[in-house]
Amino acid sequence: MRETSEPHPVVEAEHFVVEESGRCDGDNQLWLQCWRDQHTDFHQSEVNPLLSRFWPSLKLAHGSRVFVPLCGKSLDMIWLAQQGHEVLGIELSPVAVEDFFRENGLHPAKTQLGEFTLWNDGRLSILCGDYFALSRSDIGHFDTVYDRAALTALPENIRSHYVAQLQRLVSDTAMVFLLTVEDAAENATMTQANGVDEEIKALYLAGFEIDLTYVESVFEPDPESPGLPPRRAEYKVYRLTSNSGKT
Ligand SMILES: C[S@@+](CC[C@H](N)C(=O)[O-])C[C@H]1O[C@@H](n2cnc3c(N)ncnc32)[C@H](O)[C@@H]1O
Repeated sequence: MRETSEPHPVVEAEHFVVEESGRCDGDNQLWLQCWRDQHTDFHQSEVNPLLSRFWPSLKLAHGSRVFVPLCGKSLDMIWLAQQGHEVLGIELSPVAVEDFFRENGLHPAKTQLGEFTLWNDGRLSILCGDYFALSRSDIGHFDTVYDRAALTALPENIRSHYVAQLQRLVSDTAMVFLLTVEDAAENATMTQANGVDEEIKALYLAGFEIDLTYVESVFEPDPESPGLPPRRAEYKVYRLTSNSGKT
């Protein structure tokens, strides 16, 4: 899977320390700096089209809660709230959280909850703090997760900790709606390129049923080598359903 290209082209995996508690501490300062310097190329100025196209097929109940890890100031949260969901994001940077509410003309109330600050306006809430420090009692019950550029914002050796933490946080039957961008390997067949990514299998197969809902191949310039011919990328929509509650 393509790594989201902030805070620097590649987050140095060695920066991360995984404590015995499972808590990861590493690149937080870089992310915070990134937001202060407005180096936020990952931010999308419009709602993700794959979200608005495929989310309705989930047929979730009006008012159901959606958890958005590593949410940034994503406009996708606005769209989810417009669909009637109660949305809770978690985001490290207070700059991102403040921008989100201000840029969308919202007037949040702020509440200190231990090491987190909860910002809330109507159906939209963001907990400002470290995802890896969250516990289930901080967020309450969630059956649905929206992940765009959250798993992939983290370096590869931290992603299994991200998934383990997600499993601790959400219900045993939760569903994760996951969007990825995958660069086709040079020698990959079409079947391989259009299938479930090997890393997704390694991360999720033990605890989740994996449904690859949609694949779109796009030829686009390589931002790191603009002189080279366009490269092919697969934009994928996954639906991952936790089966850890099943015997
Ligand atoms: C690549 S951005 C994606 C943001 C959002 N999902 C989107 O689609 O625009 C990753 C976000 O994760 C946040 N982040 C990184 N590590 C975090 C952590 N440990 N806890 C909470 N947020 C974190 C960063 O500040 C950044 O806003």
